Amino acid sequence: MTNATADRAAELRDKLADELISAGHITAAQVEAAFRVVPRHAFVPDGTPMEATYNADESVAIKKDERGVLISSTSAPFLQARMIEQAGIQPGMNVLEYGSGGYNAALLAEIVGPGGRVVSVDIDQDVTDRASAALKATGYGNRVRVILADAEHGVPDLGLFDAIIVTVGAWDIPPAWLDQLAGDGVLVVPLRMNGVTRSIAFHREADHLVSDSAEVCGFVAMQGEGEHIDQIFRLPDAHGHHIDLQFDNGAPENPGLLNDVLATGRTDVWSGITIANGVSFADLHLWFVSFLPGFCRVAAEQGTDLAGERGTWFPFGVVRGDSFAYLAIRPAAEGAGFEFGARAYGSHGQEAATAMVEQIQAWDHSARSGPAPTIAFWPTGTAPQIPDRAAVLAKAHGLVTISWPAMS
Ligand SMILES: C[S@@+](CC[C@H](N)C(=O)[O-])C[C@H]1O[C@@H](n2cnc3c(N)ncnc32)[C@H](O)[C@@H]1O
Repeated sequence: MTNATADRAAELRDKLADELISAGHITAAQVEAAFRVVPRHAFVPDGTPMEATYNADESVAIKKDERGVLISSTSAPFLQARMIEQAGIQPGMNVLEYGSGGYNAALLAEIVGPGGRVVSVDIDQDVTDRASAALKATGYGNRVRVILADAEHGVPDLGLFDAIIVTVGAWDIPPAWLDQLAGDGVLVVPLRMNGVTRSIAFHREADHLVSDSAEVCGFVAMQGEGEHIDQIFRLPDAHGHHIDLQFDNGAPENPGLLNDVLATGRTDVWSGITIANGVSFADLHLWFVSFLPGFCRVAAEQGTDLAGERGTWFPFGVVRGDSFAYLAIRPAAEGAGFEFGARAYGSHGQEAATAMVEQIQAWDHSARSGPAPTIAFWPTGTAPQIPDRAAVLAKAHGLVTISWPAMS
């Protein structure tokens, strides 16, 4: 690398750290210091533009599978910063990262310092080889141990960790992670709950885990034994295109009823609930996950009517028999942003749209301005205490509860 390139990288690193601080993604001095020194460009593929590499919101693709699906990436810096902060990483800590790439592990090594330990595990040898080489080239070779293994089974020979950071989308929390989490340790995991993922920082409370924070995020999916395959129903339209309805659990028993749904008329139901431009309504997604039976994700192929209406709807849907509805917005009265509603197809479209609108109204009335929900994980074999106003999601290794505090 030329001196000019190294200078440019150092400049962009400082700019990135400044941006992450001013956006509130970095609050801790040790995290700031790490972002100012670790050369992110040394961990992304050659030829990746420097500006993209150091863009706070951009992830960088590392590997796709034979179908073209992304299976490894260097996560966006804002998310790496958030997750490290969620884990409260401090000098001297013992940290286990699931999902390698090298950059995040190098940040962790900077923070834990010589008195700490960083282990990074990936299921894909291309990834572990690449990460090991980049860590070596940047001087972190002896400060991070990279291991080829399936996260599902942990790394039992390596004892307990103060923090486990999972950097791959998980559907469940396998026993191995809890077995290797120190009593007062923190587990940060992007957990998929009925199709909606949050990076959750969990601490232990007796026999279960309770969330301290949850951040909106997106991740490549877990492979190996912990892989979870969603059920996808493909709905053809009249022009040879399709819409996919994707169910994480709770898929309808008779999806064949939906086959001709796109040939039916459309129904719109509006809620009277508005939101200002640019304001997050991520808690509404979790509210749907919690309280809207038949909830699914919606994906529209290019060429469908829905794809043509991009910007007026969101990929959250609900199925009722032979009909489905999805979350929509329309401009509200002058200056009031947007009104939420639901658009539906099918002979029971009105019913599906009304079910969604009722939950928009319930969220607005009883959760929107209240505290965030608490998420808990009860491993199999424990006796879950399910609070009022809680959703229960069954996982293979336990139960997830999402509980919504009463508003004062
Ligand atoms: C988003 S990338 C990790 C990014 C990385 N932390 C970094 O600093 O760039 C997710 C990684 O998880 C890995 N992965 C997927 N399933 C896994 C499993 N069961 N066990 C371990 N790693 C897994 C993928 O191979 C992929 O490299």
